[in-house]
Amino acid sequence: MTPAARVASAIQILDEILAGEPAEKQLTTWARQNRYAGSKDRAAVRDLVFEVLRSKQSLAISGGAETGRGMLLGLLRMRGDDPDDTFTGEGYAPAPLTDQEKGAGRAPTEAESLDAPEWLIPQLQESLGADFESVFNLLKSRAPVFLRVNLQAGTREQAIESLASEEIVAEPHELAETALIVTKNPRRVQNSQTFASGLVELQDAASQFVAEQIPVAKGNSILDYCAGGGGKSLALAARMPKDELTIFAHDISQNRMRDIPTRAERAGVNINLLETSEIADAAPFEVVVCDVPCSGSGAWRRAPEGKWTLTTERLTELTRIQREVLEKTKGYVSENGVLAYLTCSLLRQENQDQIDAFLAANSDWKCTMSKSLTPLDGGDGFFVSLLTRS
Ligand SMILES: C[S@@+](CC[C@H](N)C(=O)[O-])C[C@H]1O[C@@H](n2cnc3c(N)ncnc32)[C@H](O)[C@@H]1O
Repeated sequence: MTPAARVASAIQILDEILAGEPAEKQLTTWARQNRYAGSKDRAAVRDLVFEVLRSKQSLAISGGAETGRGMLLGLLRMRGDDPDDTFTGEGYAPAPLTDQEKGAGRAPTEAESLDAPEWLIPQLQESLGADFESVFNLLKSRAPVFLRVNLQAGTREQAIESLASEEIVAEPHELAETALIVTKNPRRVQNSQTFASGLVELQDAASQFVAEQIPVAKGNSILDYCAGGGGKSLALAARMPKDELTIFAHDISQNRMRDIPTRAERAGVNINLLETSEIADAAPFEVVVCDVPCSGSGAWRRAPEGKWTLTTERLTELTRIQREVLEKTKGYVSENGVLAYLTCSLLRQENQDQIDAFLAANSDWKCTMSKSLTPLDGGDGFFVSLLTRS
């Protein structure tokens, strides 16, 4: 595909996303319907779509319309490219710009250029303080690819060597002792032998950091209450030989856990899937992890759609669910056990405020540590807090 044909495809996909289709689903549908697109074309179109979604507001302003065409026009203008070189109408290129399109658009203001959802700015400023602008500037760029080395399968050095033999360059990352940042050929990771062998797993470095803060001891029984795809379960399972920890994964949606058995097998660890009705029989647990559903604001580089689809109503609902999850799961924690509360949110109301509210309502509990990370620390934004009975 020519660069202009890739732009035309991105325009088409973005229009579907603006009409309410999830980005990942729309990209998959497009790839299925356009088999001539090779892996490089698919990657380039995907990059264009995500680049636009991360800066949707400012690009729509620059291009003069919140449409696929408007935003791609805005992107070319922001890059300093001449849009007439792309909007030629030749072959599979997008149709030439009309006079109306040529006259539309303006430079976004400094505030608009941050691409922060306007209604949320006061809360973001309160949560991030002086870091607000730098964090939002960073959220406009692509997230690095991080790997977690499975220390049950090998060392960080062995993982780096094994990846290098497959032309994938990775370096240790300071956020976690298991973390690697991939600096060359990140797209090859999932088809590599190093990945297939279970020596490395894809996981954000800050996600690894928060999992590392959770204390686990030989013989512990651990419940990952909001396990989703199992990222935290897998990281905890890899902390010790598999017969020394018992890990249970649970999620309100069993379907979200569908990949856990395959991922656990690849990593050579055991993760037991639990239905809600089975938790009481398996309790108590020395560690209960609540990686609660949240705004996802810490991961808006990776999943930029969330930045524009989050609403006050949804945020209120999420904070209610977070409170309910903490209240529910405290009863599953053993006498001297730990309740670990995690989010990938940048918002104080989903983070420390939830812990403060929990402690205000539960005077027999105390917080032993809380830590917030933002993308300025290298990975996604994350929050971790550990609670024990006082
Ligand atoms: C942040 S994601 C979990 C990510 C996962 N722990 C990981 O590391 O890959 C939150 C998960 O909570 C689940 N969830 C939402 N409401 C829940 C509830 N009331 N009880 C348990 N799980 C819930 C969602 O289905 C979602 O999979």
